Order: sequence, then C-alpha cells, then structure tokens
Amino acid sequence: MSTVQVESTLSDDERRAKLYQGDLFVYAPKPATREFVEFARALIREAFGDLDPETAQHHMPVEDYAALLAELKPRFIHHPTCKELLPAILAEHGADTTKTYFDVPRLRTSTSDDYLTSGIAYAFHPHRDTWYSAPFCQLNWWMPIFDIEADNGLAFHPRYFSQAVRNGSAEYDYYEWNAKNRASAAKHIRSDTRKQPKPEEEVEIFPQTRVVAPSGGMLIFSGAQLHSSVPNNTGRTRFSMDFRTVHLDDVLGHVGAPNVDSDCTGTTMRDYLRGTDLSRIDEDVCLTYDTAPPREDAVLVFSHTAQA
Ligand SMILES: [Fe+2]
Repeated sequence: MSTVQVESTLSDDERRAKLYQGDLFVYAPKPATREFVEFARALIREAFGDLDPETAQHHMPVEDYAALLAELKPRFIHHPTCKELLPAILAEHGADTTKTYFDVPRLRTSTSDDYLTSGIAYAFHPHRDTWYSAPFCQLNWWMPIFDIEADNGLAFHPRYFSQAVRNGSAEYDYYEWNAKNRASAAKHIRSDTRKQPKPEEEVEIFPQTRVVAPSGGMLIFSGAQLHSSVPNNTGRTRFSMDFRTVHLDDVLGHVGAPNVDSDCTGTTMRDYLRGTDLSRIDEDVCLTYDTAPPREDAVLVFSHTAQA
C-alpha cells in the first residue's frame, strides 16, 4: 500500500521516514515554486520564439526540435538562478538547508504521439532511480512547468516498492555511464542505443498511481519507487522540472528505502550540493556508497511497512 499525502504538515524528518516507506507527498504551489515556474517558462519561451512551446512539436522538423532542446536543457541546468531558487524551494517545504543537499534541476519534455521519445527527450520505461546508482535515501522532487493532465505526466507502480523486479541494474555503473553516454544524449533522435537498466520480466504497470498537480505544485517521492513516463497522446508537450535531494543525517546513517532489487555500482552521491553553501558531501562518505546495500527480503520490508 502507498499513501498520497496532500499538503501534509509533517516535519521533514517525519516526511522522509514516510517517503522511505513508499508514500508520495504533494504540495500546492508556493512562492518559490511559482517564481521557478516563471523563470523556467521565460527560458523556454525565449528558446521557442513565436511558437507555443506546448504545441511547437507540430510545427518543427524533429531534428530541429532535438537541437533546440540540446541547447535549452544545459542552459537551464546550469543557470545561476536555479542554484538560488532551489534552496528557497527546499526551505519553503520545511527542509533544513544546512543538512539537505540537492543536485542540479533537470528540465524534462515529454512530447506527444511519439514525436521525440529518445535521447534528449527520453521517455522513461518503468525504473527506479536506484537502478541508476542513486542512494536509497534519495528523494525526487518533481514539478510541472505548464499544467499537466493524467495522460502526460508520470506514473507510479506502487506494488513494486516492496516487490523485486528482475532487471539489468547489475550491468550499470554510474562512472562508466558518465564517461560513455552522457554527452551524447542529443544524438539519439529516432532511437536510443544507450544501454539503460530495464525490467527483465513483465511488469504489471496497472493499476498505477498518477498525480496531477497544477504548475508549481510539488510532488516528492523516493528514488526507490518504480515509476515511468505516461505515453503522451494529449497533443501537447509536457514540460516539467525535477531535482533530487539527500539529507546528511540519512547519508551518514545509511538510512533510506529498502533495496529490493538494485545491483548497480558507483554512486551519484558526489552530485549533491548543500542548500546553504553548495559544498559537496565528504569523499570518505561517498566512498561508502560505491556498491548497492544488501537486498532486504521483500516480506520483511512489507511487515516493517505495515508496523509503521
Ligand atoms: Fe526516474
């Protein structure tokens, strides 16, 4: 079972404990998230010029569209305004910025009708971020930039939070991936040959949970949740932003969601920046995250969740 907690008044410590048990948290737009939406829309509109960003895909050759995103997305990621607004977003959601570390925000696009679903606009198959070397204390923060609907957002497959899926994460090493693949995303326009960790058995993607919040509304979930992009047939491109956080207490204590099926190596732990001074987590701590933690028995995980 998983619970969607809307406008929760739990503290950040209590919230993280619930997130590690599979709950989802949703918040209405707040001042800093609204400011972020305005900032992101301005960058996006500048890039698309006279075209409406949500329908521009119908008026551009896909190669030009991919080239536009290849320029826009890195500019967004590395924009100095992001590093100012993200700590403000964390603070207004009750996170302690002296102990909360975040990575750079990603701008995501989900185009409609299979226009562009690879490379720079990859449509995600069901996955856990922990198959991609995220630590088990990683939390994902996800926010629409323009209003979304159920058919162009993302989906959760909550039964798998405590149930293993046979998958290819054992062949994924974060350092190798960065060295080989990251810079080439824009080249994958009609297909994507990058070897990603995927389910290696049938996943029952229904029933699934979809959360629809207005632009500027924040969704927070554990990086261990099985989630996927909803195939978009709405005629409009979805624009969203997401970033990830870890809390230093949980990093040091190796506290987080249970590992039911992740076997990757390497760690994203060096990517996070502290909310106050943008410092990174100490290298000796990062080194303790080079391999996935031992798997927990799914039955044990379930009874642990049920007791909480
Ligand atoms: Fe993900």
